[in-house]
Amino acid sequence: MKVSQPLLTVNDLTVEYWARRGKVRAVEGVSFSVDKSETLGVVGESGCGKSTLGLSLMQLVPYPGRIVKGEILLNGRDVLRFSANEMRNLRGKDISYVFQDPMTSLNPVKKIGAHFVELIRAHEPKVSEKEAVARARKLFKDVGIQSERIGDYPHQLSGGMRQRVMIALAIALNPSLVIADEPTTALDVIVQAKILDLLNALRDAYGMALVLITHDLSIVLERSDRIIVMYAGHMVEYARSADIFKNPQHPYTQGLLKAIPNVELDEQTLNAIAGSPPDLLNLPKGCRFWPRCYCAKIRCGEEEPPLINTAPDHYVRCGKYKEGE
Ligand SMILES: Nc1ncnc2c1ncn2[C@@H]1O[C@H](COP(=O)(O)OP(=O)(O)O)[C@@H](O)[C@H]1O
Ligand SMILES: [Mg+2]
Repeated sequence: MKVSQPLLTVNDLTVEYWARRGKVRAVEGVSFSVDKSETLGVVGESGCGKSTLGLSLMQLVPYPGRIVKGEILLNGRDVLRFSANEMRNLRGKDISYVFQDPMTSLNPVKKIGAHFVELIRAHEPKVSEKEAVARARKLFKDVGIQSERIGDYPHQLSGGMRQRVMIALAIALNPSLVIADEPTTALDVIVQAKILDLLNALRDAYGMALVLITHDLSIVLERSDRIIVMYAGHMVEYARSADIFKNPQHPYTQGLLKAIPNVELDEQTLNAIAGSPPDLLNLPKGCRFWPRCYCAKIRCGEEEPPLINTAPDHYVRCGKYKEGE
């Protein structure tokens, strides 16, 4: 039994891009929730709708995208009904976003410290510049950067440090949810691990929830409480991380697990899932995964399977399963 309402509840979210080539449903019928101080991992191959999902939560889906259906409840309030002003207030203060490439969010001609002063004072106009700088120095300490670096320009920092700056900016207003979208993809493996551990440590220290988006299941397995596996705009599996690891039900999830080096699963040694995801403009009939599925039956190519609840907190979209199985 849940003691309190989740921090975030998403119901039947559907997002479309109305591009020249046609209309694409990048996210379709996605539902999940995030509790306070919880980490939710979102995994799937490039193009499956992860960023669109993350950006939707802040209503930042780029043109020509639009949210066509669904509900996004933050502490019980539907964000999709917020005015532009309420939305501006929400961004950074309630929910913030860490992008893959920090250079897209940092202004190259502005010193790092100025980014903090601007952000803090935009939301809290009464805070003096001096106070804002002091807060920025404290944030630098929290993310493991020497506070003198506050006077640097973005290009003077290494990629890893820039990403730490982005994380400091993301937590500057003490939001209840941080969305980190492939925050370490551009970094080398060691820096990557440090940044991910930093995110989790900050989650604990600040008591915020984290949505960690990645194409790499191994990254979220150990670091998330729950995981959403996306495939071609659909959520194909949603469960506690331990259950994704011990009892993956969707053949796609099973394939992703097998592709992780050193994860021992049965006697299978074949690593990659053959083939590639479908073009969203030209989806196969039936299950979107069947052309790549090792256990596809004829009916898989005819009917699209619904998302069903197979066990407590375990959902899967695959024709093999029946409700409660
Ligand atoms: N700006 C855009 N214009 C048109 N279609 C887009 C745009 N951005 C994304 N899409 C479509 O949405 C799908 C999902 O994209 P995205 O959410 O970026 O996936 P991911 O983050 O998983 O790589 C893409 O495969 C593409 O078809
Ligand atoms: Mg993306």
